[in-house]
Amino acid sequence: MTDIRTSAGTRTAAPRVLVTRRLAPGVVERLAAACEATVHDAEQPMPRPELLAAAAGRTALITTLDDAVDAELLDAAGPALRLVANHAVGTHNIDHAACAARGVAVSHTPGVLTEATADMAWALLLAAARRVGEGERLLRSGRPWAWAPTFMLGMELGGTPLGILGMGRIGRAVARRAAAFGMPVAYHNRRRLPADQEAGAELLPLDELLATSRVLVVTAPLNDATRHLVDARRLAQLPSGAVLVSMTAGVVDEAALAGALDSGHLFAAAVDNFEHEPAVHPALLAQERAVLVPHLGSATVRTRQAMGDLAVDNVLAVLAGGEPVTRFSPPPTSAPPS
Ligand code: DGY
Repeated sequence: MTDIRTSAGTRTAAPRVLVTRRLAPGVVERLAAACEATVHDAEQPMPRPELLAAAAGRTALITTLDDAVDAELLDAAGPALRLVANHAVGTHNIDHAACAARGVAVSHTPGVLTEATADMAWALLLAAARRVGEGERLLRSGRPWAWAPTFMLGMELGGTPLGILGMGRIGRAVARRAAAFGMPVAYHNRRRLPADQEAGAELLPLDELLATSRVLVVTAPLNDATRHLVDARRLAQLPSGAVLVSMTAGVVDEAALAGALDSGHLFAAAVDNFEHEPAVHPALLAQERAVLVPHLGSATVRTRQAMGDLAVDNVLAVLAGGEPVTRFSPPPTSAPPS
């Protein structure tokens, strides 16, 4: 395992923590002051057999969305394991029932990635609506082009109704930015937000949200109730010529999305993360009107530092005998939003 780096803790018989991916500068050093920290110091995920072997005897694991935290991994870690600290706000890589059955707490990194992710939703929305990806590809291809009154026209966002599916922290941050574009905002969520968090956005049933959103941004977290919630039938409910931005893997059915672009029902779409990463659905790759980026939502220097620090804070709190700072609590119901 050439990418593994172990820092000895300052105490004898220190708890042992596995970090499954290279983290922002300085983050692991904070951890290593309190325990024996073993880091897979690479940008690629740990191969599964190495992960299973390296997990053995750990008190905590710092994991990413690429690490399936299931019964097999938990059993490989063994009875010393007290915390899975996911370096992400999402936790769809984690079998929560298997963790609960073994008394293993789960933490995640909410809050610190909200603004970066909302910025990326807007970057993608603007790129899709104004055909930035297509234009760039055209120039780089060397194909001839000329300015023309009818050349590469996009959709103007000012005043256009914006729908947000999933009005958590990221959805609300996307909504706040819409004020700068004079866009009326509606949303669909498991439950109505307190008025001070709605900031003028209107709660609508899902059917109505889809029927009235010229622009739809999907930020609902992936879970059993939301997997493929936006399928071919739901996409057909959007107005013809709509733009869709997907910020959560697996909530929008990628094949159906490609179909809605191919038929011309959607004007454009943008996707930040993918159901079977690093694979991207080939039908999506074939769509000129799809802006596709490799899971960059939280990818800023400041945010990745904050995510790493929060993951370590969670571990340190548990090693000190306390509760994780940002423990993940599964939503109270698995009923799909209707
Ligand atoms: C998350 O934290 O769930 C994001 O997808 C990481 O960028």
